[in-house]
Amino acid sequence: MSRLVCVSNRISLPRKSAAPGGLAIGIQSALRRSGGLWFGWSGDTSEEDAGDPDIHIRDGVSFATIDIRKQDFDDYYNGYANEVLWPLFHYFLKGMRYRTEQRDAYEDVNRIFAQKLQPLLQPKDLIWVHDYHLIPLGRQLRELGVQRPIGFFLHIPFPNIEMLRVLPSYAELLRDLTCYDVVGFQTQNDLNAFYSCIEHLFGAEAIRGEGRIRVGERVLRAAVFPIGVDVNGVQTEATEAQSASVVKRMSDSLMGRDLMMGVDRLDYSKGLVERFSAYQTFLETYPDNVGRITYIQIAPLSRADVKAYVEIRQSLEQAAGRTNGRFADTDWTPIRYLNRNFPHATLMGFLRAADVGLVTPLRDGMNLVAKEFVAAQDATDPGVLVLSNLAGAARELTSALLVNPYDMRGVSHAIQAALSMPLPERRERHAAMLQVLKRNDIASWTRRFVEALEQAQSSDARMRAVSNRA
Ligand code: F6P
Repeated sequence: MSRLVCVSNRISLPRKSAAPGGLAIGIQSALRRSGGLWFGWSGDTSEEDAGDPDIHIRDGVSFATIDIRKQDFDDYYNGYANEVLWPLFHYFLKGMRYRTEQRDAYEDVNRIFAQKLQPLLQPKDLIWVHDYHLIPLGRQLRELGVQRPIGFFLHIPFPNIEMLRVLPSYAELLRDLTCYDVVGFQTQNDLNAFYSCIEHLFGAEAIRGEGRIRVGERVLRAAVFPIGVDVNGVQTEATEAQSASVVKRMSDSLMGRDLMMGVDRLDYSKGLVERFSAYQTFLETYPDNVGRITYIQIAPLSRADVKAYVEIRQSLEQAAGRTNGRFADTDWTPIRYLNRNFPHATLMGFLRAADVGLVTPLRDGMNLVAKEFVAAQDATDPGVLVLSNLAGAARELTSALLVNPYDMRGVSHAIQAALSMPLPERRERHAAMLQVLKRNDIASWTRRFVEALEQAQSSDARMRAVSNRA
């Protein structure tokens, strides 16, 4: 039987608090099912070159981690990954700051990952690389002689060619993607954008039927694998958390008011400034709600050394302060804005307690909070999801109230529609979305990707057999 090896920049280490973000939740749940190895960054920087990986084994999963040198980390993670690729892939050119040294550090850190991972690999491994931090890793593993199938999944959006070619080294990045056997995207939009880039670089004839792309001798498969959630797991967590004191205290503190909830990493792509303005527009447009609704926004800090994140944090503090200063009363605060994280189960408990889930990113690969909000609801009396049509999740959750996150008035109308929606309509919309979530849950995401990798393996074996016979 094959062993699954997942590789990502950030990993959810046992004993460390869970890393926020859908990637960690997705991989954690994939590996919990099948067992295997998870290789990545330890979360620490060092003055020295990375030594041998630290290995911890827990519940059938081996965690192998390495430290990254401080300067490399600044240029690779803060720099190339989060000041170049992240803004570019999310269509925020204004936030992009390209420096060649960052590109070099990106290549170097990927090489270190490849060198440290390669000795841990076994003959039957299937290797699954995650996210934009590690695009060159497949090529570098091949250069070290790794023959096993290697797949890559992009958790964030993939930009169209007109956006991608702003990147001076865009051709290398595309060539690196073609070194994988399987390349997966969240939505059809992302796959189409990838095709537009492949066509630009290699010509239309590179794209074959059934998602195959031929570049020289190599054939790779590109497809859509929308990440899902563990529906039963979320339901259980959400239900059990209702009796947890932290959730009870939150619910009691509402004093019977409606609850609107947002949970996002503090990131400019999540559209929080726009969301706070839309909430202010809502209070202005529908003044009956003043004093009757509480909006809790949980936004744990993230990438705090990157300038754009320092700026967005300041803007949000000002925006929350403005709304609270203008509307608050001695016994009511319109926005409770918290820069801290909570255990996953607690968050699911909060989401279940909410009448409205507000998920309005300006651009998002998928957004698992939207899916978790739906899964966490009580099906007999569900809350309503207000969802950005620029999130990948909007392709599947079409029964949410879909909004344009830049349209303050539109979002404010949607909040009002959510709060006043009759129970039968809430149930109907919720049931439709739950069905989608069950059909495409986290287990089927893993299964489909691993099957694609296994097929790559068997077609490789066939090709080898043919060339041996020849
Ligand atoms: O999903 C996108 C992503 O960048 C993941 O790769 C990452 O684990 C998560 O968001 C959190 O971001 P970071 O690791 O930069 O804190």
